Amino acid sequence: MGDAGNYELDQPQGKLDVESLLSQLTLTEKVALTAGKDFWHTNPIPRLSIPSIRLSDGPNGVRGTRFFDGTPSACLPCGTAIGATFDESLARQLGRLLGDEAKAKGAHVLLGPTINIQRSPLGGRGFESYSEDPFLSGVIAGNYCKGVQDKDIVPTLKHFVCNDQEHERMAVNAIVTERALREIYLAPFQTAIKLAQPGAVMSAYNKVNGTHASENKRLLEDILRKEWAWDGLVMSDWFGTYSTTEAIEAGLDLEMPGSTRFRGAALTHAVSSNKVKETELDNRVRNVLNLINKTRAAAIPEDAPETELNRPSDRALMRQAAAEAIVLLKNEDNNLPLKKEKPILVIGPNAKIATYCGGGSASLRPYAAVTPFDGIVSQSTSDVLFTQGAFAHKLLPEVGSSLRTEDGKVGFSLKVFNEPHGSSHRTLIEERHLTDANMWFIDFANPKLNKTWYADIQGIFTPDESADYDFGLSVHGTGRLFINEQLVVSNMENQKPGSAFLGSGTVEEKGTVRLEQGHHYKLLVQWGCAETSQLKQGGLVDFGQGGVRIGSAVSLSREQAIADAAKLAKQAEQVVIFAGLTGEWESEGYDRENMDLPPGTDDLISHVLDANPNSVVVIQSGTPVGMPWINKAKSVLHAWFGGNETGNGLADVIYGTVNPSAKLPLTIPKRVSDNPAFLNYRSEGGRTLYGEDIYVGYRWYDKVGIEPLFPFGHGLSYTDFKIESLSIVDHGTEKVCKVNVTNTGSVAGAEVVQAYISPPKASDTASGIQRATKELRGFNKIYLEAKQAREVAIPIDVLRATSFWDEARNSWCSEKGTYKVLVGSSSQGPFLETELEVSKTQWWNGL
Ligand code: BGC
Repeated sequence: MGDAGNYELDQPQGKLDVESLLSQLTLTEKVALTAGKDFWHTNPIPRLSIPSIRLSDGPNGVRGTRFFDGTPSACLPCGTAIGATFDESLARQLGRLLGDEAKAKGAHVLLGPTINIQRSPLGGRGFESYSEDPFLSGVIAGNYCKGVQDKDIVPTLKHFVCNDQEHERMAVNAIVTERALREIYLAPFQTAIKLAQPGAVMSAYNKVNGTHASENKRLLEDILRKEWAWDGLVMSDWFGTYSTTEAIEAGLDLEMPGSTRFRGAALTHAVSSNKVKETELDNRVRNVLNLINKTRAAAIPEDAPETELNRPSDRALMRQAAAEAIVLLKNEDNNLPLKKEKPILVIGPNAKIATYCGGGSASLRPYAAVTPFDGIVSQSTSDVLFTQGAFAHKLLPEVGSSLRTEDGKVGFSLKVFNEPHGSSHRTLIEERHLTDANMWFIDFANPKLNKTWYADIQGIFTPDESADYDFGLSVHGTGRLFINEQLVVSNMENQKPGSAFLGSGTVEEKGTVRLEQGHHYKLLVQWGCAETSQLKQGGLVDFGQGGVRIGSAVSLSREQAIADAAKLAKQAEQVVIFAGLTGEWESEGYDRENMDLPPGTDDLISHVLDANPNSVVVIQSGTPVGMPWINKAKSVLHAWFGGNETGNGLADVIYGTVNPSAKLPLTIPKRVSDNPAFLNYRSEGGRTLYGEDIYVGYRWYDKVGIEPLFPFGHGLSYTDFKIESLSIVDHGTEKVCKVNVTNTGSVAGAEVVQAYISPPKASDTASGIQRATKELRGFNKIYLEAKQAREVAIPIDVLRATSFWDEARNSWCSEKGTYKVLVGSSSQGPFLETELEVSKTQWWNGL
């Protein structure tokens, strides 16, 4: 509890009188308000009862204030999973859950949703955003924001704008045409703002057409505030403020995190010397105070303790979301669903790990995370066999929960000292019991800690089988790993830079040791903080004290493990393979190098399918992966990162308790080189050319005629739907597409009816501008019992649905002509078709 706690009890929850406060605040106080106090809080001004507010990541959960030893929380399915539900109402309900979680974590502002665009399947953070399509992305985001706001929490749209890759994310200049900027990259922000008027926006790290987003007046002032008349607060991404004067003048209200680098004395000096006008500073302060006012209704006290909700109703909602996000890509011979009463063989690298979240700031410690294997076990009424088949880890699996403390608890002890290992006098500063052996001490604090400090990490490891075991140590700092006093891994000298700890750590150094089943081995890691390391990554961000990650797994002969799996699969009646990526492959901080599954996985899937063609393949990844074995597979599910309830959601779909209804929110290409950003998806000499222009995702595959592996909007069901009788009803500026949908099969299910608008041929228009073949402009998800039929209405906002960005006029243009309305259940049809006449050309600006 900070010193602000003194007036916490009588903290007024009424609105601050912003204009009166502006006249009372000193220059130093105003400046203080425009920067963070620490990593997650704004500065308070107790004299004037201006509280500090808490901001917390976001987007798929609410982590609270600690990366290290964080408070457990609800982790929702990742962005692409929520996009795949095509379900506005579910997005709103999930937003409400996040609002409640934010309150439990004492957070006034949630740092999400992420609504950048997946230009490429390789984006490290692609999993966080909803879709390659700006309309779907904006509609889902708007509803998520409404849900968060239903609970009086302020959501934050991020990252504004064009933070669509991780490579050199702070330094890269995104070179993008005005048209693509408007139609593709700004559009999700525009739609979400139109729908929900969220109170905060986070600027992107990168430059857009030459100027960093956080000091880009055109983006922040001209578009966001003037053109869209949005009155919220703009904060920088963490360490993404790069100037004092430019950022203030461009409209960046809040520098995050604190302590400030560019405000404080520098800004006070700039205002005192009249380099920055005080009225300009006042504009920034006004937005900060207004933001505080928007958080008042939630009545969250300052520096509130973080608590756990973990309510059964939330778990049920997360389970529903996990299941409803799973896309049935393929299902020949109605191979799925499987039968609970028959034995099942479970195979694969992702079976016994809970792949619930991608990596980076979106990740958090879940209340619990259900593995696919556990999900199957909890529903099967027969035998469940398991064989590993292959590992898919980039780093050895984190070892924490395989360890036990001296007194038998799951996990290990962390003992913190100022003196190095081997010193004759060491004073124990703090001891903690932990379960996660991926420790990032970014926000670890103890007043007795020196700048250089050390830790002993100790637990008991009891092998399940007699075998060679690999141990791995990745550090930001230095470390040695011992098993029963024998040195197994040293990561002290000649350290090699790696991607751990957002690029501040080393590669994983490994060692192997033979261990016997059932014996108790003492695992000890002697770790020294970042200061003890010679390795200076030269990164733009100083992540301070450092980190350590300890991994372990049985040494597996890949060939043998695959052969064993294939042999078992041959004899099994029901087989399911859980494969895919993890938060180590897909993470903030770096992009993937290729679209491949981890080494060995394709071989495993291929051999198992050869042995048993009915084997069900489940892929967990936030973004597309290559599937070279696809023609051999009868049934394939794409399951994303499913949050806490991953395994239960999967078992629900595999056993048919839930009929899959999700649709791909992004195209899965046959090969990575087919995707439109292939030649332009990294920073080359400091810039990334958005060379595909508006032809992102399906707009590209449509236009150039490249057949994807699975198109945008595709997703099967265990039942069949018939869509008929398209008509268009006029409601003034809005037209409503109506169709009749019948569930012709024998089980209940849901269908997503999608409406695309196809423009007139360029040669038939006055502008002659080329456009995408078709664009999603409406959708509606409908649930139908077996044999039930219903009319489905999809409203189309004709002005927006027919507009392109006219660069010559700097306006949207809905051009006169005959448009087609295509209604179907995938971007590749089959479609019902009708015409839509725009009788006169209109230019417009604003939301
Ligand atoms: C990410 C943001 C996040 C922030 C705080 C940054 O690295 O880009 O999305 O909100 O960290 O964790």
